[in-house]
Amino acid sequence: MQPPPISQADIESRIAAYLDELLTLWQTEQGLSKPRDLELMASVIPFQRDDPLRVLDLCCGPGDVGRAIRRAYTNARIDGVDRDPFLTALCRGINQRDRVPGRIVVRDLNDAGWNAAVAADYDVVAVVNALHWFAAERAEQLLGEVHRALRGGGVFLLTEPASAETPFADRFEAWKSSQPPRYSQQNWLEFWSRANAILGYDHVQLLGSRDDDRIGDENSVADWCGLVEVAGFESIDVLQRDADQVIVAAVKSA
Ligand SMILES: C[S@@+](CC[C@H](N)C(=O)[O-])C[C@H]1O[C@@H](n2cnc3c(N)ncnc32)[C@H](O)[C@@H]1O
Repeated sequence: MQPPPISQADIESRIAAYLDELLTLWQTEQGLSKPRDLELMASVIPFQRDDPLRVLDLCCGPGDVGRAIRRAYTNARIDGVDRDPFLTALCRGINQRDRVPGRIVVRDLNDAGWNAAVAADYDVVAVVNALHWFAAERAEQLLGEVHRALRGGGVFLLTEPASAETPFADRFEAWKSSQPPRYSQQNWLEFWSRANAILGYDHVQLLGSRDDDRIGDENSVADWCGLVEVAGFESIDVLQRDADQVIVAAVKSA
């Protein structure tokens, strides 16, 4: 993405009075079922509730999954990485205000060496709605990097869009069209137009056009599980699959 016309400090100061408003608009845009999805992800982590977990929220955006884990694990430290200076500023602002410890860093995960900015012994790494923004080859490499960033016995949690396998795809799509949609263009516009107004420049324009070889919503549940397996994870489990997405959990062997 293109760099913003103002500094990170200016972004933080311009949004400081609007953290809750922006987060509410973001959560509306993310769909009604997201809180339940995040609660499920946090609930299955098989560690003691008072453990001082080290958690990495990869492609954190405003940091929803990190804070969901922190609600379940009140001693957790939540680090976050994302390429977007505005979304990371929103995450940092909310986490600092809510006294969630951890470091939120701006890095593009397409750049080699992004992981030098984070630890190498996380108890949990979570990715929500982000790996499908990458080309398949890069997503596979990233999962290997995630595997290396976890300690032995650490847990990986992944939520991504998932399509049905070919024999079921047409009927699955027909059924899906009868379901309440998760996303709406209107909610997307409301979040980003308010963000642009608060920031004082067109942030959306900086995001650039979508990368044509990105995975998008092409992967099936088996494709996501296959990528997780190739990265070396074990005990791979599908926690949930609905009309739009799949939630996968897996463990790095001890
Ligand atoms: C749909 S948002 C999800 C954000 C967050 N995980 C959540 O659930 O609210 C996708 C996120 O991936 C981030 N992202 C996309 N491509 C990236 C890249 N190459 N490097 C780092 N972050 C990236 C975006 O900036 C955005 O915050």
